[in-house]
Amino acid sequence: MASIARCLLRTGQTTAKVVSREYLNNARSLSSLADLPETHSMLQKSCRDFVDNELMPIAAKLDKEHLYPKDIIKKMGELGLMAVDVPHEEGGTGLDYLAYAIAMEEISRGCASTGCIMSVNNSLYLGPINKWATAAQKEVFQEPFLHGDRVGCFGLSEPGNGSDAGAASTTARLDGDSWVLNGTKAWITNGYEAEAAVVFATTDKSKKHKGISAFIVPKPVPGLSLGKKEDKLGIKATSTCYLIFEDCRIPRENLLGEEGFGFKIAMQTLDAGRIGIAGQGLGIAQAAFECAIDYAQKRMAFGSPISKMQTVQSKLADMALQIESSRLLTYKAALLKDAGKPFSKEAAMAKLAASEAATFCSHQAIQILGGMGYVTDMPAERHYRDARITEIYEGTSEIQRLVIAGSLLKEYHSS
Ligand code: CAA
Repeated sequence: MASIARCLLRTGQTTAKVVSREYLNNARSLSSLADLPETHSMLQKSCRDFVDNELMPIAAKLDKEHLYPKDIIKKMGELGLMAVDVPHEEGGTGLDYLAYAIAMEEISRGCASTGCIMSVNNSLYLGPINKWATAAQKEVFQEPFLHGDRVGCFGLSEPGNGSDAGAASTTARLDGDSWVLNGTKAWITNGYEAEAAVVFATTDKSKKHKGISAFIVPKPVPGLSLGKKEDKLGIKATSTCYLIFEDCRIPRENLLGEEGFGFKIAMQTLDAGRIGIAGQGLGIAQAAFECAIDYAQKRMAFGSPISKMQTVQSKLADMALQIESSRLLTYKAALLKDAGKPFSKEAAMAKLAASEAATFCSHQAIQILGGMGYVTDMPAERHYRDARITEIYEGTSEIQRLVIAGSLLKEYHSS
């Protein structure tokens, strides 16, 4: 475990970003995508060791008993995994988004719930705080959330609108030195444990999405209550609930970024977050694949291991193909972001491909395991349940297709 800390701490932000830029230039030839830069492959190996030794052995229990992995999150914070791309000089790990995508894959390979908590803190909470908060806001709302002692959450969706994020009906009204929030935010991952939230509310409904602003809400705070903990199909070790605002007063200075800029903050945050969810999908797909290929070589039927059967081989080949291709898309999206280039379309492609790979591979893994895939003695059924959410949160697969098509139509616009 200490080796991850050494690896991450030794690698300052500058080194990682330079490595990543060089890598992007090299990546023009597809073959170079096969080799990660040394920093990133060290990170990958260290995360793998941590997962194999500490996370994988408890993942089934976390899932079965719906246990929030508090100690694991604390350890991950000490290892630098809860603030991967926050600059070193601000107390973060100072790595880049390629490193984040790799770490998200490895952690989710062990436990998708833990990957989910990691992604919400890294990209949905710290992402917008790091980019838009003032120095004074960062002191209170960034620094304590970097090392796993505290986690944050992100409140965009509402009971009445999920995909149509611009239709937010939660309101924020300025009253003296306070903003007064009213409304309900839905499907909030980390809702129970989070000690602060980035929340989107409209300050002027007539302006539609241009009337939405972002706010930093401390938790707990009078006027904010939590709905019931949702009983979910998968990622059962995470809490998901409503945030209910009833005349909830927060200080005027808790506006994040400019008034009316909230929708853009939400969209840019989600662009980056989708790379993390692509990593999560990849981790689930990889775990399902590893479970299936191991089983196929051990399970005897008709006098030989079932891996000798062409139907099983065909499934393994299709699984590996989807994993490899979505991994390349994920790395490409991360590299573009690290290079400061537009990456919305590529992030949507990566999330779409990797989440569909997770669904496909976990389905095929159960098929290869047969009855053993359907019972909780083996992890295949957990991967199958955990995979489904990756096609839903941070934008459904249908929304990713809209984002991709929107970009294509702009690129190919004929005058
Ligand atoms: N970056 C910056 N700006 C963007 C943008 C982006 N990626 N996408 C759109 N915008 C801007 C546009 O340029 C436009 O700006 P102007 O008004 O200045 O021209 C404005 O936003 C509106 O754009 P659109 O007309 O394209 O917006 P839309 O209302 O049609 O919606 C959408 C677009 C892609 C469907 C968007 O609403 C969306 O992404 N929806 C999905 C929301 C989502 O992912 N929700 C998940 C919530 S988080 C979660 O899952 C919970 C959790 O805890 C994990």
